[in-house]
Amino acid sequence: MVTEYYTVDKEHPDITVLERGAVVLRRGRLVAFPTETVYGLGANGLDERAVGGIYEAKGRPSDNPLILHIADKREVEKLAREIPANAAALMDAFWPGPLTLVLKRTPAVPDVVTGGLDTVAIRLPASPVARELIRLAGIPVAAPSANTSGRPSPTTAGDVLNDLDGKIEVIIDAGPCDIGVESTVIDCTTPVPTLLRPGGVTLEQLMAVLGEVEVDPGLAGRKDVVPRSPGMKYRHYAPNAPLILLEGNPGRIRENLQEKIKLALEAGQKVGAVVSQEMAGALPAGIVTAIYGSRRDPGEAAAGLYTALRHFDSHPVDIIYAEGIEEQGLGLAVMNRLRKASGYRILTV
Ligand code: TXA
Ligand code: MG
Repeated sequence: MVTEYYTVDKEHPDITVLERGAVVLRRGRLVAFPTETVYGLGANGLDERAVGGIYEAKGRPSDNPLILHIADKREVEKLAREIPANAAALMDAFWPGPLTLVLKRTPAVPDVVTGGLDTVAIRLPASPVARELIRLAGIPVAAPSANTSGRPSPTTAGDVLNDLDGKIEVIIDAGPCDIGVESTVIDCTTPVPTLLRPGGVTLEQLMAVLGEVEVDPGLAGRKDVVPRSPGMKYRHYAPNAPLILLEGNPGRIRENLQEKIKLALEAGQKVGAVVSQEMAGALPAGIVTAIYGSRRDPGEAAAGLYTALRHFDSHPVDIIYAEGIEEQGLGLAVMNRLRKASGYRILTV
């Protein structure tokens, strides 16, 4: 198929483009659209066949459930059979925005969306393009990130084209996403809500509203703990070469990076580095460097992370070394993605 490609303004999108996208969604076909986090690959969330198309286009395992995106808070009542007080508080505080709530589902939600679970993940995005598209479609829109399964999530429409051109009906381009990492996923079916995936809403922000938050042990990346969010068990966000993550004290990271890179170069390897702006100048010459942003600005690092990982698509290397940052604010999401990209090949220094 020939993928239709439209460019719109991020804040004031051309309504005729969104109407075209809405029609395509209602017909059961796939539309990639921007959100404030990453680009999503949307399908009619109430149509089993349409949702099946998402798994096919992405090559995604079908036990990994999808998020339903809505345009209005009131739609939650059709999809969730119980809205606990803490979930309502989170909606008030962070919707529209980069927060996904896991709630007990109603029979309206097809099995193919939830991977057979008794719960459903729901999000009301802040992006005007996403919200208007969903509102015009008049249905909940099931949407994972619009990448081939296992690849870094797309933060530009160009990334979506690279992965999905010819496999989906429409791509709507509204420029780079503001946040750059996916939404925070929090399970509100447990007595104390449980953080399943760190993302655009920080743990500190969640704590300020809830007072108390459990953190899914699966997030620590221990091999003996099965993550409760099924998506968290796959090696995700990965570039094409093996990636080794260095965590700890910045000075020690620098010494270790210099040493490891020198050895790899001596062994004749092509070496890549995913690092902060502050680190880039301290590394040996002759390597491929991708900068995610400043080590002191986790928001900037989040926004630049996936583009940095995708840099190695066009600049292939044999091995990549990555510099960890502090787990404060969006730094927690950045480190979660880097750890997953490394397949937990982590060196703590
Ligand atoms: O920012 C985002 O959340 C983006 C944009 C497009 O909205 N979407 C996104 O979707 O990242 P996806 O499919 O890549 O990630 C959804 C995550 C997965 O980790 C999945 O396992 C989890 O949410 N999830 C979905 N339904 C769930 C459920 N019922 N219980 C637990 N985890 C669930
Ligand atoms: Mg994804």
